[in-house]
Order: sequence, then structure tokens, then C-alpha cells
Amino acid sequence: MQQQIDKLKHEVSSFEISNNKELENFRLVFLSKKGKISLLFEYFKKLPPEEKKITGQEINTLKNLAADRFEKHKKLIEASLSSVTQKQSVDYTLPANFSELGSKHPITIVRNKILNIFNNMGFVVEVGPEIEDDWHNFTALNFPPDHPARDMQDTFFINKSPDIALRTHTSTVQVRVMESRQPPIRSVFPGRVYRHEAISSRSHCFFHQIEGLYIDADVSFADLKQTLLHFAHELFDSQTNIRLRPSFFPFTEPSAEMDISCNLCNGAGCAFCKYSGWVEILGCGMVDPNVLENCNISSEKYTGFAFGLGIERITNLLLSVKDLRTFSENDIRFLRQFKATY
Ligand code: DAH
Repeated sequence: MQQQIDKLKHEVSSFEISNNKELENFRLVFLSKKGKISLLFEYFKKLPPEEKKITGQEINTLKNLAADRFEKHKKLIEASLSSVTQKQSVDYTLPANFSELGSKHPITIVRNKILNIFNNMGFVVEVGPEIEDDWHNFTALNFPPDHPARDMQDTFFINKSPDIALRTHTSTVQVRVMESRQPPIRSVFPGRVYRHEAISSRSHCFFHQIEGLYIDADVSFADLKQTLLHFAHELFDSQTNIRLRPSFFPFTEPSAEMDISCNLCNGAGCAFCKYSGWVEILGCGMVDPNVLENCNISSEKYTGFAFGLGIERITNLLLSVKDLRTFSENDIRFLRQFKATY
């Protein structure tokens, strides 16, 4: 009898169960009323009483072994079936996972718009370094040695003697381009500039400019004015007026500041233009002969004009952004607002 029990134990443990059919087979062979274990109980009844205790325990162990194996495989099969049905129950008509598209930064939007206008007039885009020496930022641009803009208050110096600083304006690229080749030159230089200023809604320690330079034989102030008028019409609309006010920059002579008629009140006067009807947008002028000579360009042969504008200022006007700080805070709620712009 013991031999038979051992043989059955081996059969129970090695019976293959990998699907419902085999599981049912297992149940019929070992656990059903007519199964092999029930048969053992029939023999058991006929045993002499002294053998019954030990053999009874052995048969029970065998029965438990079979029952455990049955339960264990039942659960395994159920689990694998339910994961299959779960996979099959995916609803393929549901919309796909939504991934949000990014958008251009408002400064980039306005920069591209401005560069496009000048590109269409034949200006090419060129760039220069943000870390500059005294020559390119000041001296070549005709800044006198004691000019206040050289003061530590305005400039972020990286090194003193030789003076290396973060450029305070994109006029530096004028010098680099003029030094590198002879006219005709007709270029625009976009870039980031730095100044030692307290951060507030109206000023920041870094901002963006676009510089323009046109050098050739016989370039006149009339060319400058017409170029800027066309620019204002393209950037705002054809009703926009411009006005040039005399001003001073070391690198241009004569120099001017350009106002446009306020695009909020069409020149009638409002809080934005401080009831003047005009808003200042850029500085400009005829390139000073000293600057041409500093860059090895003959001031006898060539003349030219230059201008420089702040992109933040224009963005302020075009997209109604009032606080300069929002441009660099990376607040996604602010940036999202310009998704549909241009
Ligand atoms: N560089 C000047 C600034 O940062 C702006 C400027 C004014 C540029 C007149 C020019 C110019 O080219 O002609 O304030």
C-alpha cells in the first residue's frame, strides 16, 4: 500500500497542468469520486486496525497534495486568462494619448517678425559674441574714455585690464562685421545684451536687441528714414506715422530717436503714450566717420546708417506684455498665451 501511495505522490507532482482541460483531467484522475485517491480509501477500509493510523495519515497527505496543486493551477490559469481578456478589451476607438505641442517664446516671435521685414529689404542676419572686449563694446564705437556707460554701474565686467565684459548692446557686431570685410554691408544683428540694472517690471539685467547697419557709397539720411518708415508700416500698419527726434549716440552723427504714432490710440493720446500720441521705439543715425575709420573703412568713400531697437519694447507694443520679468520667468501659463500668435 505504501508503495502505491508513493507512486501516486509522484504522479500528482509530475502531472502536467497548463490549461483548463488538463486541470479538469487532473481533477478526474486524482480528486473525483472515482479517482485514484478515492480508490485508495476503499483499500484503506480493508486494512487491519494497527496499520490504519499511519496509512490514513499518508493518504490524507496525498489528498492534500493533490488538492493544493489543483487550487494553485486553477488560480494560475484564471490569472493568465484574465490578463488576456484585459488586453483584448482595449477600446481602439478612444482618442490617442494627447501630448501638448510647445510654442514659440514671444521674444522669438517678435524677433522673427522684425528680421523677416529686414530680410525682405535685403538685409542679412549676422551674429556676434555676448562676451566682448572694451574695443568692440566701447572704444571702436567712439565712446570717449570717460563715458559714463563704461562705468561699473552699467556694465557687467568679467575681467579688468584687459577689460572683458558682457556686451551692453548689439552695436558691437557692427564693429566685428566692418572689421571683417569692406562695404557694401547691409545686415541686421539680433542678440542678447546685459546691463547692471535693478530688475523691475520696466527694466532687466538682460534683454534683446536688433541692430541694423547699411554701409555703401552715397548712403544718406533719407535712406535711413525711408527704411525705418517702411519697417514701421510692415511691423504695425500702413497708417503708422514715424517721427525722428535729434539725439546723441557716440557712434552716430547725426543721431536720432524714432517714435511711432501710438498704436493703441492711433496718435490721439492715451495713458500708454502718456497722452503724447507718440511712442519711442529705436535709436539710429549716420555712422560716425570715426567708427568707419576705426574699422578700416574709408570715410571718404563710404557712408552708412545704423539703428538699434529693443525687442522687449516692441513685444510690449505688439503683444501687450506689460511686465518685462514675465519673459524670463518660464511660467508656462504666460508662454501658452502666444500659441496662436503668428
Ligand atoms: N546701441 C544703442 C543702445 O543700446 C542703440 C542704438 C542707437 C544703436 C543708435 C544704433 C544707433 O545703431 O545708431 O542704446
